[in-house]
Amino acid sequence: MAAVPVFLAILVTLLTGCDAWKVDIIKPIRAQGNEVGLVFIPGEEMEYYQYKEIAEYIQNDSELRVWVALPRMWTPETFTTQELSMAVDDAVEELEDAGMMSDNFVAVAHGRAGGLLLPYYAKTSLKLKALIMMGACLPRNMKLRDFPMPVLTLAAELDGITRITRVAEEYHKLKEDLKLDFLALYRTPVILLEKANHRQFASGGTQYFISKDEDLKADLLETEVHSKAAQHVDSFLTANFGSSGDGEDTAQAELEDAFFNSNKKFQPFLDIKELDRKGNTSQWTILAQEHFAEEYADKIQIENEVIDSKVSFFNSQPSIDTIGGRVIVKTTTLLDYELSSNESPQEMNMKLKSKDAIWDAIAKIKNQTHTNSPAVSLKGEPQTCKSLNEYALEVALKHSSQEARDRYQSSGRQIIFEDDNIVQFGFLWSATALKTWEESDGLHVRAIARVTAASGLHFCKVITPYRAMEWINIDSLRT
Ligand SMILES: *[C@@H]1O[C@H](CO)[C@@H](O)[C@H](O)[C@H]1NC(C)=O
Ligand SMILES: *[C@@H]1O[C@H](CO)[C@@H](O)[C@H](O)[C@H]1NC(C)=O
Ligand SMILES: *[C@@H]1O[C@H](CO)[C@@H](O)[C@H](O)[C@H]1NC(C)=O
Repeated sequence: MAAVPVFLAILVTLLTGCDAWKVDIIKPIRAQGNEVGLVFIPGEEMEYYQYKEIAEYIQNDSELRVWVALPRMWTPETFTTQELSMAVDDAVEELEDAGMMSDNFVAVAHGRAGGLLLPYYAKTSLKLKALIMMGACLPRNMKLRDFPMPVLTLAAELDGITRITRVAEEYHKLKEDLKLDFLALYRTPVILLEKANHRQFASGGTQYFISKDEDLKADLLETEVHSKAAQHVDSFLTANFGSSGDGEDTAQAELEDAFFNSNKKFQPFLDIKELDRKGNTSQWTILAQEHFAEEYADKIQIENEVIDSKVSFFNSQPSIDTIGGRVIVKTTTLLDYELSSNESPQEMNMKLKSKDAIWDAIAKIKNQTHTNSPAVSLKGEPQTCKSLNEYALEVALKHSSQEARDRYQSSGRQIIFEDDNIVQFGFLWSATALKTWEESDGLHVRAIARVTAASGLHFCKVITPYRAMEWINIDSLRT
């Protein structure tokens, strides 16, 4: 589809010698200051003129001489790298023709189409000096630190397309980079705009679907979002292209504030994500085993190993060792991302020991040390895998902000936990996927359980707190 208009555009250029791309130029409003030229690459379902207002906010805020180029894409939803490159070339040419003297060209991409292509293009571009990603971020395989030019990543808290959980990964990259070089704070900032949604980076976008993903409802006015976004863009441009007269110090201070403010919203996601897995350990599995052990939790030591191979996980067994008066419970975990369309795993497979098995191990030690064995009455009904899912939701709610909890409660789209699907054999448990499905009342989840009284095994396929966090903060808000 995309090839035809691009072909036509080239043909028009060849036949007429005219610019194939119509580019609108907005001239700087300042007489002095270093020059930068912003080239806006429109998001899906957006037109070039929908970036005029945010561009004007940037011009008004900045002490720099900010030029703006708004190229029209021929195929806004499906453009190719070739079309992107031609649009940037034309924009640069038009900016030069209009009188821009410096070569500080900065591309601004909004959303997926530009967000996916622009970083690859920019890496080899001889023209671009920086990138601004709005509701978009570098691909996972690219490091901010290694990117050959400054990159500003601007995220919206209620972005239904480029979700906060995805951008949190970029924020994490930035934090790691800062350990090596604090200048990363100005060179590759990752900033969150609270209460804004995806389409609000542009003007007048209406209800907005991209394939199955729908944008969320914003809690701010569009002009407020433009005003805030413009401040961050200005700080980024000034810190990277300004000189001391242009307010470079103020710009750096603003980027530092933005970093710490963004931390409040990103860090809870990163903390909860780390429960899924850190190194070879799943803290969420350890919490689950503690939950099963109930009042014996503080009498045992729980270990865990995340196993990446399905076959090795299938063959693994949880165990209890009593060494030198200590009870050590060893658990195993498999994380399944295969079917996941989210940043969290589709399901977590845990092999745990039952409370009864733990009781038996403790009783054995007590006998060996000639003290009283635990009262038999403390042996109880085994916990369910469903109770772990409920626990995951509880953890996620505790780590979400008050506004996020309020939004979730009033969304009318809760997580509904069904009773466990209990299967008899290990191979059946392995072969049966955790069941999740959406209905009008919310997300239904049915855990897969396998319990063997004799050997004290309790296997569960459950969600993780991170999945619950995503549902609370993002998916539950879709109508
Ligand atoms: C920019 O500043 C001018 C002059 O103060 C004002 O008229 C205009 O509305 C401002 N534009 C935006 C988008 O704020
Ligand atoms: C994970 O375990 C494997 C083998 O069990 C080991 O070689 C590897 O170093 C571990 N990785 C981490 C991050 O602990
Ligand atoms: C503990 O010792 C008592 C009496 O010696 C015995 O009846 C009981 O089976 C022992 N319990 C365990 C768990 O070994």
